[in-house]
Amino acid sequence: MTKLTGSALEHHLDSLLGVPAFAPPTAFSENAIWNDPSIYAEAESDPEGWWDHHARALDWQTPWHTVLDWSNKPFAKWFVGGRLNASYNCIDRHVLAGNGERVAFYWRGEEGEERALTYNWLHEQVQRAANALTDLGVMPGDVVGIFLPMIPEVIVAMLACTRIGAPHNVVFGGFSVESVRERMAESRAKVLITADGARRRGMVASVKSEVDTILERLPDLAHIVVVDRTEIAHPMTPGRDVDWDSALDAANPICDAQPFDAEHPLFILYTSGSTAKPKGILHTTGGYLVGAAYTTKHVFDFRPDRDVFWCSADVGWITGHSYIIYGPLMNGVTSVMYEGAPDYPHRAIWWETIERYKVSVFYTAPTAIRACMSWGAEEPNKHDLSSLRLLGSVGEPINPKAWLWYREVIGGGTTPIVDTWWQTETGQIMITPVPGITHTKPGCAMRPLPGIVAEVVDNDGNAMSEGQGILVLRRPWPGMLRTLYHEPDRFVETYWSRFGSDTYLVGDAARIDADGDIWILGRIDDAINVSGHLLSTAEVESAIVGHPKVAEAAVVGQADEITGQSIVAFVTPIEGTDTNTLNEEVRQHVAVQIGKIARPKRIIWTYDLPKTRSGKIMRRLLRDIAEGRALGDVTTLRDPSVMETLRELISEHADSED
Ligand code: WTA
Repeated sequence: MTKLTGSALEHHLDSLLGVPAFAPPTAFSENAIWNDPSIYAEAESDPEGWWDHHARALDWQTPWHTVLDWSNKPFAKWFVGGRLNASYNCIDRHVLAGNGERVAFYWRGEEGEERALTYNWLHEQVQRAANALTDLGVMPGDVVGIFLPMIPEVIVAMLACTRIGAPHNVVFGGFSVESVRERMAESRAKVLITADGARRRGMVASVKSEVDTILERLPDLAHIVVVDRTEIAHPMTPGRDVDWDSALDAANPICDAQPFDAEHPLFILYTSGSTAKPKGILHTTGGYLVGAAYTTKHVFDFRPDRDVFWCSADVGWITGHSYIIYGPLMNGVTSVMYEGAPDYPHRAIWWETIERYKVSVFYTAPTAIRACMSWGAEEPNKHDLSSLRLLGSVGEPINPKAWLWYREVIGGGTTPIVDTWWQTETGQIMITPVPGITHTKPGCAMRPLPGIVAEVVDNDGNAMSEGQGILVLRRPWPGMLRTLYHEPDRFVETYWSRFGSDTYLVGDAARIDADGDIWILGRIDDAINVSGHLLSTAEVESAIVGHPKVAEAAVVGQADEITGQSIVAFVTPIEGTDTNTLNEEVRQHVAVQIGKIARPKRIIWTYDLPKTRSGKIMRRLLRDIAEGRALGDVTTLRDPSVMETLRELISEHADSED
């Protein structure tokens, strides 16, 4: 096929917009692990039997006696009585089966360094790291924080924790140390594994010396383990701080994997809530691993003898946990891991990497696809991407145009796309095409996987056969979160109260079409989805009002061509403040408090915010303004004239953004 660019490509994509659905290529279906639609009925006829069957894909030291205990709903127990070890399932069993020399990860550093990390290497490193943590006093159940860039040690660190039953709490490397502090404090972490510094677009940023600034306020944190990544100078406090390499060298090389109860905590991962405090999503061992292994194998149609996988997410997000680490490793996969940004050192780095390692399954986010699209098809067209047989998307709704671009330009016009809907809370992919079966519609997540029940309901919780409503999950699933760490009441209240304790409230709006296929529309709460990362309005607002010259702030999401949504902040300064130089200061303040990703793209300075008579800020109206829509109902406003002023202000600012 000739590779199109520019207006010829545009024309071609426009012509495809009329195609209602794309069937999988025959050759793909014939060779797919799942190609018979009867799997859906089979799972429905006996859901627990279905999960019982798929749980057997793992190695259990002790088998379970009960698949699901839902008697204390919404607190589920899966595979009750079963015992297993996560790192054993990810590593040891492949080594014992004679596959130790298989590459687990082709790792590529920002500066072009390359390493092939085998299952044997992981086996050796993880045992040493596990013993090193034990030497520091870490016991089963103790939380270990991890704040690392995308380097091999992050894989080893996570698996070492699971080997000794210490739940890890990974913080995305792009977050600020203030976010690290909050997450370590909330989870009462005992040890934090971090790096001397991180490479970012050719520069070196110090990490350890930043981390030191928060330690005084973390009395439970006994030790800091420091990985050398950059050779940047960093302070080490004797007795408290430990060098990663020396600790591993000194550690006993043998650490047998001890089995843990299926419901033993595996990890905590913090996600933005609609109130300021992040939610500590707790996943446990047996169910989560079954969910991650099941979906990796069947959604990505993965066979170790055939495929090379690349999930471009960061390990600091749930996508990285489930589809860089646990799902792929349990399936004995060879994966690619890249340290850098998609446009560093140049905009073809992804395509170069796919060609180099012959990646066959590539999983990324709509925001990245749209960025690549805006850079043009020339770069990908220069590379041989014919190894790709399946593409995936996750994190936010993908617009049909980007979906088609992905399929045509990256997938050579034939590669099926799985648009996978799920959440930190669900742990595993929930709604998605099955690539060897589903006729996919561009922009549609399609159907719940076999074993999963998702419905679109009206305000009273009645299932709709067609139309727009609220997305819910009706039945427990193995990878589900078990609770919010130390906040069981908030867990019940947030997810299981609106429609009763049998129905999980997702927090997304969705549309079900005449064929019964599900289109995800976005959040119904106050979360903003920037580049596939959820941020809560309250979290960003509290960061902004933390600036000494700010009196009040209201934050909303605005549609953004590249990042899906971007943040617009309406901010009231302290009386008499000169706001001219304040934009950058406030943005910088937010970067320090939360991370760069949370910086408002636009700040509108105003002395008036639309408030109800009871003083509640009406974000709904601010969203209308930010997106240039006609205003909704303004009758409950204390002072409706505020809206006109704001509308003028936002149009003045439209040209001045960066
Ligand atoms: C959104 C990321 C549309 C959704 C795995 C969800 C999606 C939130 C999709 C969870 C998709 C995720 N199509 N929207 N394929 N995947 N979302 O916890 O709003 O970071 O509730 O987990 O992202 O974000 P989280």
